[in-house]
Amino acid sequence: MMLTIPGFLTAEEVRQCREALEKAPWQDGRATAGDLAAQVKANEQLAPDDPLARQLGDFILDRLGRSDRFMSAALPLKVLPPRFNRYLGGGTYGNHVDNAIFSVPGTPHRIRSDISATLFFCDPEDYEGGELIVEDTYGSHSVKLPAGHMVLYPGTSLHRVTPVTRGARLASFFWIQSLVRQDSQRALLWEMDEAIRRVRTEMPESEAVPKLMAVYHNLLRQWANT
Ligand code: NI
Repeated sequence: MMLTIPGFLTAEEVRQCREALEKAPWQDGRATAGDLAAQVKANEQLAPDDPLARQLGDFILDRLGRSDRFMSAALPLKVLPPRFNRYLGGGTYGNHVDNAIFSVPGTPHRIRSDISATLFFCDPEDYEGGELIVEDTYGSHSVKLPAGHMVLYPGTSLHRVTPVTRGARLASFFWIQSLVRQDSQRALLWEMDEAIRRVRTEMPESEAVPKLMAVYHNLLRQWANT
């Protein structure tokens, strides 16, 4: 399931993040890529232990917890500390799949990357290229969202970022281990949650509401791993 979260950050929050990121000490992104990925990766990243990366990362994690849409769609168990990247001057990242398991820096913990997230800090007109292309069985999906918007897509997807030929593309990216490992099951729960919200709004007195909610929670009980 691919899903956008519009307006995840406000315009003012984006402006502050961007201002800080533009002065940040960017490093060659190949440092954190595996052998195969390093051959197709040409971008810049902040070191995971960079103080700014930590500060902005904590800020994003806090926002995630307050986003109903994120919580309902991702059903998060663990979230990897957000990372930051910049593409400019032809920077690109060819087709790859992300690692299945990530170590959480400075801890003994590991996270399975069920869901990938990209949060955009620049508007589409600020740069040329830089589309996130995600492939699934329905074909290729091109994503280039306004600043402050976020996209979630399955960690299993092959994906790439097309070359940025003008301007710069700043983004945060991170991975989520979900309570529900299977994308298809998460998608069903998401659809059901959305439908229940509608029924609650349109027919708040209906006896169908508690019954549907029971089905939702009982499915989650069956499928969740904590
Ligand atoms: Ni990737």
